[in-house]
Amino acid sequence: MQKLIAANWKMNKTINEAVSFISEFKKLIKDIKNAEIVICPPFTSLQAVSKELKNSNIKLGAQNMHFENAGAFTGEISPLMLKEIGCEYVILGHSERREFFNETDDLINKKVAAALKNGLKPILCVGETAEQRQHGKTEDVIEDQIIKCLKGVDKIKDVAIAYEPVWAISRGNPNQKAATKADAEDAHLFIRKLLEGMYDENAAKNTRIIYGGSMKPENAKELLAMPDIDGGLVGNASLNAKSFAEIVKSAR
Ligand code: 13P
Repeated sequence: MQKLIAANWKMNKTINEAVSFISEFKKLIKDIKNAEIVICPPFTSLQAVSKELKNSNIKLGAQNMHFENAGAFTGEISPLMLKEIGCEYVILGHSERREFFNETDDLINKKVAAALKNGLKPILCVGETAEQRQHGKTEDVIEDQIIKCLKGVDKIKDVAIAYEPVWAISRGNPNQKAATKADAEDAHLFIRKLLEGMYDENAAKNTRIIYGGSMKPENAKELLAMPDIDGGLVGNASLNAKSFAEIVKSAR
């Protein structure tokens, strides 16, 4: 299975900054065939980045969306709009959306269903907080999130699950430690087994489970070499073209 390496820029980069990143990044990874590369800029840069990515080996994703196609939802963006602008992926249920914007599993489930219905591939984020991990609740939390967010979803192969332990997310701190490769692998294997129970062995084997949380050039290779880590969702280290290109190159 080809690895999926996605950049989540969060609320970073103006249009100009986004475009100059893409022109530098394209040159750095132009011969890459070992990974599927996705860039998820803020909404305001989607159009410009979409144009820059035409005829390249890089795909476009959004960081969030509403579940309706249109309507009186001030400030929201719909799946139709994302499709039209050239998105193939959409990040859903990121822990920052859950924590700062009160997104619930129920709401995320509606978004996952709406994305699939509109031909967008969701990158569904799950993961425990430090406190939940300390209390030995990691697996319970992940299981609960996945079961609720995937309720009624049958096209599981079009979904990528991003395991993002909240305690490992950098929040802009480049010195934040990632999960160890062993802890990450344990969680990924747990998710794979869970999917096997919810769907079947084949579906579980073909669904990408990617890791997010302080992935950077220094640790990407060892994380991506683990048997159940099928890619990465990269925040801080994706803001710099050279470091993101290095991460992409570490995928085999
Ligand atoms: P960092 O790579 O900055 O830890 O962010 C991870 C993340 O939240 C990606 O969605």
